Amino acid sequence: MTITDWLLDIRFHNANLLLTATALNDEKQEKALIFINATFYPMSMRNTIRQRTFIKIKHIMKTDILDITEALNWRYAAKRMTGATVPQEIIDRILEAAWLAPSGIGLQPYEILVITNPELKKQLLPIAGNQLQVVESSHLLVFAPWNDYTPERINKVFDHLNEQRGTSSTTSDRQRQFAINYFSKFTSEENFHHAAKQAHIALGIAVAAAALERVDATPMEGFNAKALDEFLDLRSKGLRSSMLMAIGYRDTANDWNLPLKKVRKPKSEFITLYR
Ligand SMILES: Cc1cc2nc3c(=O)[nH]c(=O)nc-3n(C[C@H](O)[C@H](O)[C@H](O)COP(=O)(O)O)c2cc1C
Repeated sequence: MTITDWLLDIRFHNANLLLTATALNDEKQEKALIFINATFYPMSMRNTIRQRTFIKIKHIMKTDILDITEALNWRYAAKRMTGATVPQEIIDRILEAAWLAPSGIGLQPYEILVITNPELKKQLLPIAGNQLQVVESSHLLVFAPWNDYTPERINKVFDHLNEQRGTSSTTSDRQRQFAINYFSKFTSEENFHHAAKQAHIALGIAVAAAALERVDATPMEGFNAKALDEFLDLRSKGLRSSMLMAIGYRDTANDWNLPLKKVRKPKSEFITLYR
């Protein structure tokens, strides 16, 4: 017998239905005994109704989310994770999505550090306000923008671009000069903030990519960036930390945030149409 755990989190307009299932599969995967825990959260009522059901099924079907809106409704900022490891190919796809993010003048002025070492995560915990996702995540990403834009860094980007395209064009030369002149007018602090804005576009795309994979990804700004920079010696690499992202699997039994309704401000206050 093998054991499989599932979570089904269904959100209706005015209620959430949470199903967790544990299956005992036979070796041939032909039959499974499934124990289902159903928790129904009517929005008007705080009390929950718990039901334990025992059913026997013959076939197990796995469905994938392909719809971006559905995936973004499924996702939420997980506060508790199980510590289970996310398969490397999924992590690779999430990182690939971040890598493909657009950035101002294509400079990609940031790096992503990937932490899996449990001891390192434990040491990072107090720096991140003891937020348990840090230690319960499978992979902890640190989004680390450049501490400044320099001519060397900008030249490196454009040299690489020309090498990859096998040509040096006047357009890219113009962009190179524009970038060098433009960023020279600002302080390091202002340039760092510009770079952090680019990094956060990648973070958003990574969050969406994770949701499409049915993997949880909690963006986290609640940490002491100065302390983290020192701890990881980021300054020596010309980097500073701006955001963390905990990637893992939601702890359905212990995460208080999971059953809460997803709330956004009215679209009328979010979108303004100029016809
Ligand atoms: C810039 C930023 C910083 C955030 N910092 C934290 C954080 O430190 N810890 C945390 O648990 N969630 C953090 N979040 C998650 C937000 O609280 C969450 O996305 C928001 O409340 C909306 O809820 P939802 O993502 O569950 O839909 C952060 C999100 C963003 C975008």
